[in-house]
Amino acid sequence: MLNYHFSLVLLFFFSFICCSFDKHGGGLLLPAFGMAQNTTIVHVGLVLDLEILAGKRSHASISMALDDFYASHPSYKTRLLIHSRDSKQDIIHAASAALDLMKNTQAQVIIGPYRSSQAEFIINIGNKIQVPVISFSATSPALAPERTPYFVRTTNNDSSQVAAISAFVKSFGWREVVLVYEDTSFGSGIIPYLVDVFQSIGAKVPYRSIISLSVNDDQLKEELYKLMAMQTRVFIVHMEPHLASRLFTKVNEVGMMEEGYVWIMTDVIGNMLDSLNSRSVEAMQGAVAMRSYMPRSEEMENFTRRWKARFRQENPISEPPEPTVFEARAYDTLWTLAMAVENATVSSSSFRKLPQGYNSTDLGGLSVSQNGPKLLEAILSTRFRGIAGDFVLVNGQLNSSVYEIVNVIGKAGRRIAFWTPELGIFKQLNSTSSVSLKTVIWPGDTTSLPKGWEMPRDKERKLKILVPVKNGFKEFVNIAFDNTTNRTTVTGYCIDVFEAVMQLLPYAVSYEYVPYPNAKGQIADNYTNMVLQVSSQFDAVVGDTTIIASRSKYVDFTLPYTESGVSMIVPVKAEKRNMWIFLTPLSSELWLWTLGLFLFIGLILCLIETRINPEFQGPPLQQLGMIFYFSFSILTFAHRERLVSNLSRIIVLLWVFVVLILTSAYTASLTSFLTVQPLEPTVTDVSELLKNNKIVGYQDGSYVADLLKGLGFKAYQLKNYSSLEQYIDALNKSEVAAIFDDIPSLKLFVSQNCANVAMAGKNIIGKIYKAAHIAMVGKTFKTGGFGFVFPLGSPLARDVSRAILSLTQSNKMTTIERKWFGDVTSCPHGGDDDPGLSNLKLQSFGGLFLITGVVTALTFFLHISHVLFSKQG
Ligand SMILES: *[C@@H]1O[C@H](CO)[C@@H](O)[C@H](O)[C@H]1NC(C)=O
Ligand SMILES: *[C@@H]1O[C@H](CO)[C@@H](O)[C@H](O)[C@H]1NC(C)=O
Ligand SMILES: *[C@@H]1O[C@H](CO)[C@@H](O)[C@H](O)[C@H]1NC(C)=O
Ligand SMILES: *[C@@H]1O[C@H](CO)[C@@H](O)[C@H](O)[C@H]1NC(C)=O
Ligand SMILES: *[C@@H]1O[C@H](CO)[C@@H](O)[C@H](O)[C@H]1NC(C)=O
Ligand SMILES: *[C@@H]1O[C@H](CO)[C@@H](O)[C@H](O)[C@H]1NC(C)=O
Ligand SMILES: *[C@@H]1O[C@H](CO)[C@@H](O)[C@H](O)[C@H]1NC(C)=O
Ligand SMILES: *[C@@H]1O[C@H](CO)[C@@H](O)[C@H](O)[C@H]1NC(C)=O
Ligand SMILES: *[C@@H]1O[C@H](CO)[C@@H](O)[C@H](O)[C@H]1NC(C)=O
Ligand SMILES: *[C@@H]1O[C@H](CO)[C@@H](O)[C@H](O)[C@H]1NC(C)=O
Repeated sequence: MLNYHFSLVLLFFFSFICCSFDKHGGGLLLPAFGMAQNTTIVHVGLVLDLEILAGKRSHASISMALDDFYASHPSYKTRLLIHSRDSKQDIIHAASAALDLMKNTQAQVIIGPYRSSQAEFIINIGNKIQVPVISFSATSPALAPERTPYFVRTTNNDSSQVAAISAFVKSFGWREVVLVYEDTSFGSGIIPYLVDVFQSIGAKVPYRSIISLSVNDDQLKEELYKLMAMQTRVFIVHMEPHLASRLFTKVNEVGMMEEGYVWIMTDVIGNMLDSLNSRSVEAMQGAVAMRSYMPRSEEMENFTRRWKARFRQENPISEPPEPTVFEARAYDTLWTLAMAVENATVSSSSFRKLPQGYNSTDLGGLSVSQNGPKLLEAILSTRFRGIAGDFVLVNGQLNSSVYEIVNVIGKAGRRIAFWTPELGIFKQLNSTSSVSLKTVIWPGDTTSLPKGWEMPRDKERKLKILVPVKNGFKEFVNIAFDNTTNRTTVTGYCIDVFEAVMQLLPYAVSYEYVPYPNAKGQIADNYTNMVLQVSSQFDAVVGDTTIIASRSKYVDFTLPYTESGVSMIVPVKAEKRNMWIFLTPLSSELWLWTLGLFLFIGLILCLIETRINPEFQGPPLQQLGMIFYFSFSILTFAHRERLVSNLSRIIVLLWVFVVLILTSAYTASLTSFLTVQPLEPTVTDVSELLKNNKIVGYQDGSYVADLLKGLGFKAYQLKNYSSLEQYIDALNKSEVAAIFDDIPSLKLFVSQNCANVAMAGKNIIGKIYKAAHIAMVGKTFKTGGFGFVFPLGSPLARDVSRAILSLTQSNKMTTIERKWFGDVTSCPHGGDDDPGLSNLKLQSFGGLFLITGVVTALTFFLHISHVLFSKQG
């Protein structure tokens, strides 16, 4: 009761100095509107940095909200009495202001403070004495409503935007990002979430740049130069706008707002974008920022207009800025509180001593708020449609996670996309358009997509690409030096593939070829050494370099662009002729069927003729001999017996026809068996070579030498060759029993030697390839095929690999292959699908045999019926 009277006196007194500030920067806010008789005063503390713009803006929102609320709810039985305190941009001042409010003013709720760092202590105290602390601007995820239930956050936390940032980064395929953030708990609060989310999309965070609040311009520049020297070009900036403004001014000075750079700012800056000074915005041109989405409704416009007026009224000397999402949320926060207080039907302040007093300090005066639990529950269950959208608290935090992604162009941000947790990035809130982003204008005033990384050092540098100088196999890489112009021209299959791949990259890369070991025409005699050069001075190797495990420890390979594996070629020799070759033209099945048919026809003929033809009559043994003799004599058309029956004449006529066809087919087949010489490989297995200590060849400089040693060949068994001509020579002169090489090289060999075979007249034939192929069966000479070489961890390798995949899946690759290697499959003997010689099969004559059999049988039945009828007659 005493309290109530006291409040009335206070009310009376302060209604005259409504909205005034005392000399300490604090003040009292009262609803300007009609105060009903029986109202309960609820004391509310407000802690803000009242001396700076941010605090003044929030104050304008709160005071306007207070007036608006009670103007539209005059019948409410409660009135908020707001005691504002200046936290003087300082953690201790904020804490002390809050303590003062809790202890001396007996505030039942605290609104604020503005900054996360100031909030930490206040939240813990509030939690202890059950005073809800509502912040509309403390976004650090280090402050968790889950852990401190009396903390209510009426805004998003910083970590709710990390998924939006990662979705943005992912949609452009950037694989590395550098985090730049301020060295405070607010700055680092978001970092674990960012790192996690980038890890989940496979993007690396090679470096984190931590900027101290007390950094001076020189240190800032130094840090930026360090970032510039690194190859990552995508930066995520998370810091308070005033530090960000300084940072971006320096970024412009050192030339990091140029083409190729990507700056992504978190919503700390994004939300304030409209109210930054024009110098800061000018420095951020081309950057991209996250921003909490506020629907541009009519109420919002009304709010903006009236808020500006209120701000001007409270701060006559400064020009009103545009209200940000925080102003709208501060406004909604006060409405929530006013509604909750009414709904909770709280009594006046009622505090109970803390059970264990902190006697020796100021904290000893604190006591636990009796209304706390009821108030908190009412606040958390309040739902309404506010200025900044639907106001719903979930787990003590505003349930709002629609972000817009804005591109800083001109004086402000231009929205390029929306993001929601359910839908990801999309262009228009309601549209189903598949295009997810509007065109972004990147730093350097360009719309061409930054690739997200750059070779370190100066930007003008071209990639230095090593190419091996070769003596042979110039189809892969051929380096021609023109000493009149001092120009080196590099051509070949590998070069064509590389250039096609470079064109498929989404960005342009400039490069130049550097011959290895030098331009003097020396030969690259050790490919492994060449590949190792990449880790030190060069940016890539393009050539017939094979992907093998031992090399991949030092360099990154792209995916292979050729067939993989090592095979061998061996000479072939003619197969020996066989004494039974005359049997080969017909298959054994065909032989048997022919024989069977002969006997069948002989038997039928005898049966028909035996009754009427004396030449076929005689004892059974003689008749059997007659059957055989007659059938086979037809083969040579040498039968002398005259046939009497017309039916048997028909059979014999047909039979002669069949024999004619069979003999001519046999003759033709036998001719081809006799003229074409079948070839077979001299060696079919590596173990054979090893067992007989044979000498084998390999390509000069190739890792195949090491592979062969690994298989068990001794050093003296290995001979190196550097061209296809030497391969042929070596095989012709039997210097080596086999030559081992990568399958692409061997394919080239085979395709070229198809034509050579006939001319050389030697026993090296296109079929070699087939033989070598057979010899490889079951052997594990698996290697990765040819790939391009990049330094370890190079982001280019990934992009090139992807481009190689799309190249190999297109028919461009076939065109390049055909250009350099010809058509391997068109080689008369070389293809795998060589049909070879085969004998005649039963199927080829099945029809003929069937007709013969049927006609013969029919004739026989005619004969039988004729005989039976004539007997009866
Ligand atoms: C004010 O409160 C008193 C008792 O506290 C009650 O009798 C009276 O009806 C109330 N007046 C109004 C207008 O609510
Ligand atoms: C931050 O917000 C997200 C949702 O927006 C929520 O899931 C998460 O728990 C919040 N984190 C903290 C620490 O409040
Ligand atoms: C703006 O809002 C105020 C208070 O809610 C209201 O009185 C006024 O009519 C609104 N004006 C317009 C143009 O909507
Ligand atoms: C604080 O003071 C009260 C009396 O003033 C006393 O009963 C209590 O034991 C003290 N607590 C501590 C922790 O000293
Ligand atoms: C306050 O309580 C009333 C009824 O008690 C309810 O209708 C209203 O929705 C509540 N207001 C809010 C904002 O929760
Ligand atoms: C919170 O927001 C999400 C989407 O923004 C919505 O699906 C969900 O229902 C909301 N939760 C509540 C309690 O309103
Ligand atoms: C989006 O859809 C909602 C309802 O689904 C509608 O109220 C709103 O006006 C639409 N907005 C736009 C920009 O079309
Ligand atoms: C290069 O120049 C030298 C003279 O400087 C000349 O003798 C030689 O033939 C030239 N070689 C070629 C390939 O042009
Ligand atoms: C080619 O290079 C040599 C030595 O590097 C130089 O002496 C010569 O003048 C150059 N020729 C041309 C045409 O540039
Ligand atoms: C190339 O050099 C490496 C070591 O530098 C060696 O192990 C390898 O055997 C060499 N290869 C050839 C083919 O000489």
